[in-house]
Amino acid sequence: MFIKTMSESGVRLHFLSLILLCCVSPSIFFTLNLDNSRYVACGPHQTQALTEFMNEFDSSQCNLTDPYNGVWCDNSTSAVTKLRLKACLSGTLKPNSSLFRLHHLRYLVLRDNNFTSSSLPLELGNLNRLEILFLPNNRFVGQVPSSLNSLNLLSYLELSQNEFTGSFPLVRNLTKLSFLNLKYNHFSGTLNPNSNSLFELRHLRYLDLSYNNFSSSLPSEFGNLNRLEVLDLSSNDFFGKVPPTISNLTLLTELWLDQNRLTGSFPVVQNLTMLSFIYMNDNQFSGTIPSSLLTMPSLSILHLRRNDFTGSIESPNSSTPSRLEEMYLGHNHFEGKIIEPISNLINLKILDLSSLNTSYPIDASLFSSLKDLLLLDLSGNSISPASLGSKSGIPKNLKTLWLNDCGINKFPDILRILEKLENIDISGNVIRGKVPEWLWKLPRLNTVFLTSNSFTGFEGPVEVLVNSSIVNLFMEQNSFEGEIPILPFSINVFSASDNRFTGRIPLSICNYRDLTLLRLSYNNLTGPIPQCLSNLTSVNLRKNNLEGSIPDTFYISSSLRSLDFGHNRLTGKLPRSLQNCSSLEFLVVDHNKFKDKFPFWLKALPNLKVLILSSNELYGSISPPDQGPLGFPELHIFEISDNKFTGSLPPRYFVNWKAASLTMNEYAGLYMVYTKTTSEGLSYVILEGIDLQYKGLSIKQGRVLSSFATIDFSGNRIEGHIPESIGLLKALIALNLSNNAFTGRIPLSLSNLSKLESLDLSSNQLSGTIPNGIGSLSFLAYINVSHNQLKGEIPQGTQITGQAKSSFEGNAGLCGLPLQETCFGSNASPTQQRGEEDKKEEHVLNWKAVVIGYGPGLLLGIAIAQFIASYKPEWLAKIIGPNKRRNC
Ligand SMILES: *[C@@H]1O[C@H](CO)[C@@H](O)[C@H](O)[C@H]1NC(C)=O
Ligand SMILES: *[C@@H]1O[C@H](CO)[C@@H](O)[C@H](O)[C@H]1NC(C)=O
Ligand SMILES: *[C@@H]1O[C@H](CO)[C@@H](O)[C@H](O)[C@H]1NC(C)=O
Ligand SMILES: *[C@@H]1O[C@H](CO)[C@@H](O)[C@H](O)[C@H]1NC(C)=O
Ligand SMILES: *[C@@H]1O[C@H](CO)[C@@H](O)[C@H](O)[C@H]1NC(C)=O
Ligand SMILES: *[C@@H]1O[C@H](CO)[C@@H](O)[C@H](O)[C@H]1NC(C)=O
Ligand SMILES: *[C@@H]1O[C@H](CO)[C@@H](O)[C@H](O)[C@H]1NC(C)=O
Repeated sequence: MFIKTMSESGVRLHFLSLILLCCVSPSIFFTLNLDNSRYVACGPHQTQALTEFMNEFDSSQCNLTDPYNGVWCDNSTSAVTKLRLKACLSGTLKPNSSLFRLHHLRYLVLRDNNFTSSSLPLELGNLNRLEILFLPNNRFVGQVPSSLNSLNLLSYLELSQNEFTGSFPLVRNLTKLSFLNLKYNHFSGTLNPNSNSLFELRHLRYLDLSYNNFSSSLPSEFGNLNRLEVLDLSSNDFFGKVPPTISNLTLLTELWLDQNRLTGSFPVVQNLTMLSFIYMNDNQFSGTIPSSLLTMPSLSILHLRRNDFTGSIESPNSSTPSRLEEMYLGHNHFEGKIIEPISNLINLKILDLSSLNTSYPIDASLFSSLKDLLLLDLSGNSISPASLGSKSGIPKNLKTLWLNDCGINKFPDILRILEKLENIDISGNVIRGKVPEWLWKLPRLNTVFLTSNSFTGFEGPVEVLVNSSIVNLFMEQNSFEGEIPILPFSINVFSASDNRFTGRIPLSICNYRDLTLLRLSYNNLTGPIPQCLSNLTSVNLRKNNLEGSIPDTFYISSSLRSLDFGHNRLTGKLPRSLQNCSSLEFLVVDHNKFKDKFPFWLKALPNLKVLILSSNELYGSISPPDQGPLGFPELHIFEISDNKFTGSLPPRYFVNWKAASLTMNEYAGLYMVYTKTTSEGLSYVILEGIDLQYKGLSIKQGRVLSSFATIDFSGNRIEGHIPESIGLLKALIALNLSNNAFTGRIPLSLSNLSKLESLDLSSNQLSGTIPNGIGSLSFLAYINVSHNQLKGEIPQGTQITGQAKSSFEGNAGLCGLPLQETCFGSNASPTQQRGEEDKKEEHVLNWKAVVIGYGPGLLLGIAIAQFIASYKPEWLAKIIGPNKRRNC
């Protein structure tokens, strides 16, 4: 039986071991040796081709001792039959590559290599003896060549995690194919059976098209694929109803339809007796949930979150006990009874009933029969207060109870008797007063979320927490007062932002060996920063009244990923030992009184993504000593505004920034600083937020941008030209160079920044004309070039014409809308005049300028900094990407 897995080795074990043992003759294994090409058992021709192939790439990363890599040759014919190279090659795979001379290959595995921007050449078709083609995660782009169709011995095809585009590949002749994985690419188009050969693959046992852009209804021909064991269509744009022919797939064990736009009532799957996982979450399925599902013989996971299911659930009519272990029904619209039937599902371990939208309060004591229940999520429901009382019949074995946003106004006494409770979330309720002392005596308590209530303190003595077993404590957005509490030695995460804590940060912080995340931002703390923060992963002390300098004690810190000391009264220099924090991604020290030169020495940090130094007293040149590129290859947010920086930007300043390329799955203004997984595989993600204050930026909280970069150099004394290399930063969405002394022309390359939403070049000494291409930047919601020495016509485009006049004022020579000075009379051409007439209409179409205008910059800061998510499997999958939960 197939189990879904990304790993080639896993699959080989389950499925291919037979093929490998029989077909590859008692082969001789060679570690690739690049220096002196010795593949003696392989024929000389083959050896040469292989060496040439390796030499086409930078293969210096090849770990020659890695037993994964290797080449196998057939003893009798001495031809290369099997080649396997992992995370080893970097360069372009060319059509004339010697790879395509290895005609005898049956087994080709190239995974995790860096074939940036290579497409798969047509010559792939030369390798027509291939039985196994395994190419995941190689950065391939473009369409899969039609020559794939000539590999008619192929039984196994894995192309996942590349950047392939185009429609479903031509596979008509691949009649032996039993495994096909296209996951995580950009395939698009429909699955129309008339133009598509998918449904002729009658031997297919495993089909994964998830995380692509297919947009299609599901043809009834899916019923042809009746050998399928795993079908994964999740995270595409599939719409319409699931065809009834799905009931033909009687061997199916896993059905993944989640994160699409599927509609209609529950598909008829009851006779698919092998089914053990059903994932239909995040669709628009409606109607009731058939009770026969609950007693399907193999079904152990039923995932139906975020649909439009209504009505009630009938009690299952069967003597066969339910095998269901995990059931997710959250975020639907149940009106009728659903609790009583669920109380019969006695094998349940995980039950998600969040946000059911029932018209009545949920009675938590009805779950008393679920003796094995480990996790109960009742968040977002109103819960009958009595059922949270200490006499309630809630299952006593619960390890995890989520009760956030339930409108609870009294600390739930029921917790007192849950001796096995490890994790409790009561955030987002309206509980006042003090946290009861007994809570800390629960023997297995691990993680507590008290966030967003109105707690003012802890009941009991000062050291009430000290003997508790608690490991993670979240208590942001309350009204806790006084000094920071003394924590137990076991503490791992302490997050207490946005309260009213006063006094100093206790030195006892330094005694907590396992502390990895400390957030005390938005309080009224005073005094110095303790010396011992270098062992942490993330520390946020933003917006307090801390004084003194940052202790220079980060010598051996390889764990620190995120540090935010912004908005304090810190002085002195940036600690040089920070350059030893090789994992640092996020360094924020804005709005302090640091006096220092630009920290070129941070260039050594390979992962730095966010550097915010704004509003300090930093000085000196920002041009690198060697006049070359700035370095900082990973930088995405770079803000140094409002300092006293001088110097100019050399031509190659922006070369080599990763922001030049677009990467997927990053969150706007949010950085994941911490993830934690509990024993049952439940985990939560902690995100750190950034204030992105650029006019015109349309970032919404948590919106996924494919990737983005922002630069703010405003309010310094930087001079010289704006380098053309700025045009390389394809991911740039906001650029603020205002209030400096830049001279020369506006670089033409700005027109290449097609994602740009906000551009401020005002108050410099720029001359020449505004490049025409800027007029066609379709996302540009804000532009300001006022107070320069620009001349000529303002480029006319929908985004520009709607801008305020003040964005162009103070330039003696500019003309055209939105300024009153027309460009007529001089040498305006007839087309330009016609353009003038069209402008009224364009003005109406200028939705973005009208809606967004040039309102205040979007403040993403603290609201998001407090954004803590308890684990919701599909949510996590969205944020982290590939981490979909599965049982294997
Ligand atoms: C392969 O083609 C490239 C051009 O794409 C060329 O530079 C190179 O010399 C060719 N290599 C061989 C071995 O023919
Ligand atoms: C269902 O599967 C059978 C083989 O078991 C096949 O002959 C038939 O065409 C399939 N029916 C549909 C509607 O796909
Ligand atoms: C329960 O099942 C039996 C036979 O399996 C059937 O006769 C009966 O009508 C069913 N009852 C309900 C309520 O579906
Ligand atoms: C970095 O750490 C090493 C010890 O591992 C230390 O010798 C060195 O001084 C540190 N560098 C800085 C700038 O603190
Ligand atoms: C650019 O920075 C200045 C402050 O230095 C600020 O006043 C202005 O609003 C910023 N421009 C944009 C577009 O956010
Ligand atoms: C814009 O980018 C293209 C390629 O991406 C390049 O050829 C062109 O020179 C760039 N234009 C400018 C003005 O930099
Ligand atoms: C453009 O910048 C100037 C100077 O900084 C400022 O006075 C003006 O208000 C800005 N215009 C808009 C629309 O923000």
